[in-house]
Amino acid sequence: MKCAVIVGARPNFMKAAPLMKELDRKGIEARLIHTGQHYDREMSDLFFRELSLPKPDVYLGVGSGTHGVQTGRMLPKIEKALVRDKPDLTVVVGDVNSTLAGALASVKLKIPVAHVEAGYRSRDTGMPEEINRIVVDNISSLLFAPTGEAVNNLVKEGIERGKIHMVGNIMIETLLESLERAKKSGIMGKLGVKEKGYGLVTLHREENTADRKRLKGILEALGEIDAPLIFPLHPGTRKKIEEYCFEGAANGLKMVRALGYLDFLKMESNAKFILTDSGGVQEEALVLGVPCLTLRYNTERVETLEAGGNILVGADRDKILENAQRILRDRNFERKMSRCKIPRYWDRKVSERIVKTIVSFKSRV
Ligand code: UD1
Ligand code: UDP
Repeated sequence: MKCAVIVGARPNFMKAAPLMKELDRKGIEARLIHTGQHYDREMSDLFFRELSLPKPDVYLGVGSGTHGVQTGRMLPKIEKALVRDKPDLTVVVGDVNSTLAGALASVKLKIPVAHVEAGYRSRDTGMPEEINRIVVDNISSLLFAPTGEAVNNLVKEGIERGKIHMVGNIMIETLLESLERAKKSGIMGKLGVKEKGYGLVTLHREENTADRKRLKGILEALGEIDAPLIFPLHPGTRKKIEEYCFEGAANGLKMVRALGYLDFLKMESNAKFILTDSGGVQEEALVLGVPCLTLRYNTERVETLEAGGNILVGADRDKILENAQRILRDRNFERKMSRCKIPRYWDRKVSERIVKTIVSFKSRV
């Protein structure tokens, strides 16, 4: 059996790494296609090294662009690679434009698609990722769901129950596998912070960065929090901050380059709290027992809210400040947010469950 695994953006790499290993362990040939959606060293190469991902068999170099341009550039290039390789199955992960293009190019060639991280829904179709999730789930033959809620979403949308497999959260498998190595990172010393002595910030979502006023409001609110904040910048956010001339807008914030995975894990594990609009970081914070304030008005990671480790604060200054200050001053509140129940199957066996299902799928077709 032969698979094509498609990646392109930072959060894809943590999801593909355990899969590539497990496919190899089971003797399944897997070709890795990298679209080149993310291309800076700290958004791509660094993760290949840290996660021991094999060098991509095919690199498409599509780069940045509007959604239409970026996705459009990917389609013929992915198609060409799939026509040449003739895989029995294409595996896509997450919800980025590379996920959409990979799935679309594949089904049009009548190559079945497996979607890892199927069924998440924010119910906000203004989010580019929500469109990607809905389309990819509807054209996939194997849907690997991370939570029971994700399974329910798919069933409610009329997707055949037999296609859906609740396997757990693959990003958490990578996290659990990497924690020991992350402990050795010297990043905290380099940034001059101590255990539980800082908040960690990430921000890159289009809804927060495309609007000058909204981004300025968030940065100003962060500047009012009574704690040092470390803010590893996604290169897209850095460009926006420069374009809007915000340098120095938030005094308490220390902006640094985007971090590699192990350094970032070290910073996450030791933070007093996390402020983020990332999808994956909400999940990682829950598992690491670090209170998370999400700079969005909705989330597809609803299980983090239900567990009690995550609060939606949007771009609302008062909500951001009130909750951050409460974590800093109210021990009981902080403790409640950091001792939450972890969803089922968020463990080290996710890739094993996925590959087992892939093998039995192959024997059925
Ligand atoms: C993409 C995903 C988003 C995901 C995020 C993870 C889509 C629709 N969005 O958003 O779901 O959470 O990746 O990080 O796929 N840039 C660089 N260097 C790079 C990559 C990007 O400078 O290596 C800059 C470019 O100016 C680019 C901008 O970042 O225009 C946005 O990049 P893009 O891949 O379009 O979207 P992300 O915001 O990264
Ligand atoms: N991450 C990282 N360095 C950073 C910021 C994030 O390694 O500077 C990791 C983080 O630990 C998680 C993943 O990137 O595993 C999340 O990706 P991102 O926030 O870019 O995308 P999203 O999950 O929002 O799609």
